[in-house]
Amino acid sequence: MALDAPDMTGDTTGDTTGDTTGETLTLLRTRRSVTAKNLTEPGPSEDQLTAIIEAGLRVPDHGKLGPWRVLIFDKAGQTALGDLFAELFAEAYPDAKDVQVEFERKRPQRAPALLAVVSTPVDNGKIPRIEQTLSAGAVCQNLLTAAHASGFAAQWLTEWPAYNGTVRRALGFGDDAEIAGFIYIGTPVEPPTERTRPAYDDVVSRWQGPLTQH
Ligand SMILES: Cc1cc2nc3c(=O)[nH]c(=O)nc-3n(C[C@H](O)[C@H](O)[C@H](O)COP(=O)(O)O)c2cc1C
Repeated sequence: MALDAPDMTGDTTGDTTGDTTGETLTLLRTRRSVTAKNLTEPGPSEDQLTAIIEAGLRVPDHGKLGPWRVLIFDKAGQTALGDLFAELFAEAYPDAKDVQVEFERKRPQRAPALLAVVSTPVDNGKIPRIEQTLSAGAVCQNLLTAAHASGFAAQWLTEWPAYNGTVRRALGFGDDAEIAGFIYIGTPVEPPTERTRPAYDDVVSRWQGPLTQH
C-alpha cells in the first residue's frame, strides 16, 4: 500500500488483491431472503440485534441527514402491531373470515425479530428526496446482509401495512414519512432454494457510446 493508510477492508486474511472468492463477497453473492413464515427461533440476541442494526445504519447518506428511523418490535410491540393490523383489516373487509383476521393479528409474529425501517426525508432544499429514500432502502439491504452475516436469515417485506397511513401514524410518523419496509429476522426452518436471477448480460453492459440523440 503506497500510503500509510489503515486497513479499512475488515479483511483479516491479508492480501485482498483480485480476490473474487473472499468470505464477504461469497456471502453477498449467496445471500437469499427466507420467507418470514419460514423463520423460527432462535432469533438474534439483544447484542446480536444491536450489532445488526449498527451495521444496518452504516449506509451512504448524502448530506449526513440520517433520513431514516429503525423501530424494534419486541413481543409486546409485535402484539400491539398485530392487533392494529387485525382491526384495520376487519374494518376494510367486514365480511372477512375470522381466520383471515387472525392471520393479520399474527402477521408481525411470523419471525422471532421484527424491525421497521422508516424513510424520514428532510426538506432542506439541497438533497433530493429520492436520495434520502434510497438511503433508507440501503438501510434495509444492510440489515438483510448483516442478519445473514450473523448466521440468521431475513426478509424485507412491505405488504399492505407499509402503505397504510393509519399504521404509519400509529407508529408515530407523519405524512412525509414512508415505511420503507419491515425486516423479519430468524433462523430458517430449511435452507432456501435458489431464486431465478436476471442474467448478467441482460442487465449489465459496457457503455462506450455513441451518445444517443439528446
Ligand atoms: C422494497 C421491497 C418490498 C418487498 N415487499 C415484499 C412483499 O410485500 N411481499 C413479498 O412477498 N416480497 C416482497 N419483497 C421481496 C422479498 O423481500 C425478496 O426480495 C424476495 O423474497 C427474494 O429475495 P432475495 O432475492 O433476497 O433472495 C420486497 C422486496 C423489496 C425490495
